[in-house]
Amino acid sequence: MSPLIAPSILAADFANLQKEVEMLNSSQADFIHIDIMDGVFVPNISFGIPVTQAIKRHAKKPLDVHLMIVEPDRYLEAFRDSGADIISVHHEACPHLHRTLQVIKSLGAKAGVAINPHTNVELLRDVIQDIDMVCLMSVNPGFGGQKFIENTYGKISRLKDLILAYGASTKIEIDGGVNIQNASKLIAAGADVLVAGSFVFNSPNPINTINELKSIRLI
Ligand code: DX5
Ligand code: ZN
Repeated sequence: MSPLIAPSILAADFANLQKEVEMLNSSQADFIHIDIMDGVFVPNISFGIPVTQAIKRHAKKPLDVHLMIVEPDRYLEAFRDSGADIISVHHEACPHLHRTLQVIKSLGAKAGVAINPHTNVELLRDVIQDIDMVCLMSVNPGFGGQKFIENTYGKISRLKDLILAYGASTKIEIDGGVNIQNASKLIAAGADVLVAGSFVFNSPNPINTINELKSIRLI
């Protein structure tokens, strides 16, 4: 089985967003990863609802919206209305995570939970059956182009065991510092979805780079 690839638009040319989205439409990308940063939960501000709507107008792939914001409950409906197909909230930002997941699902989106590098996957045990996708942060969220954190491999295996123990169909997404060097090992450890920002958009030919990631197979 080949991995699902979610290029992160954070690394795209914002002055040519339509062109970048059309490039992704014509590629083998499975999702378009949209990084929403509020300058509070993370030390950076990216973009918000109007830009997500603009991307949606051109996108032919599902939008995978990663909310790096405090109080995400206040904006779930707005992002769903803007075209989000998957909405991931941060475990660290949700005191009532179970309720938040039910709200995302009631809006008709897939429900994701992102966890920071220091957050133990064991904290997801009591909600694992309610989560469509866990986004394991393999960098500290806030910026593209950071170095991959190596303890991610162990977290993938432990999360995979947890998912299997409950017979859940939760997908594992890896976000941050993904490239062709670590992608095979991530898939071998149990990753289903690879987010890649700078590795795709800073490459000479993003379409080929997406193909390269997509063609990784487990031997
Ligand atoms: C980091 C974001 C990532 C980021 C990945 O806060 O959540 O999605 O765009 O970028 P790269 O692939 O450059 O690490
Ligand atoms: Zn992200």
